[in-house]
Amino acid sequence: MKEVKIESTLYVYDSLNEIPQDVQHLMEQASIARDKAYAPYSKFSVGAALLLENGEIIYGSNQENASYPSGLCAERTAIYYAGAKCPNQKIVRMAIIAGSRINPTTSPIPPCGACRQAIVEYEVKQKEAIEIYFMGETGKVVKSSSLANLLPLVFDKSVL
Ligand code: THU
Repeated sequence: MKEVKIESTLYVYDSLNEIPQDVQHLMEQASIARDKAYAPYSKFSVGAALLLENGEIIYGSNQENASYPSGLCAERTAIYYAGAKCPNQKIVRMAIIAGSRINPTTSPIPPCGACRQAIVEYEVKQKEAIEIYFMGETGKVVKSSSLANLLPLVFDKSVL
């Protein structure tokens, strides 16, 4: 038996003002997308904006459903929209902003496991890392240099 340690490195910025200006802009776009979330059940709104290598920005927000499991997270709405609209464009980065509409959310909200799995598919496909930035409604912003960094022991096509 041997012990295997898995390490990830994240970068934590104290506020939105600290991140590079172009990423601030992308986060602002994610915030605009968040305002279009349809979250009448959870009242938890999430917005995602992703930048393609041609400069285009693709948006997503969570879309809920009376049949709860039929809803979809913001990150997957955005990544599948990108895959459907611009299948040959690499994705440079994704900005995510999330929080409850009832209680202010000041801590950074990472993408859920299902969204990480969905995003990593495109990272593997494009053979280039996708930067992930995430935050709550206000406060600190976390950067991960790749999605794989948030999803150790990834399940991808190499195992099929
Ligand atoms: N949600 C997202 O949009 N992204 C995540 O990564 C986690 C959760 C949404 C799904 C649901 O509409 C609401 O947040 C509460 O779970």
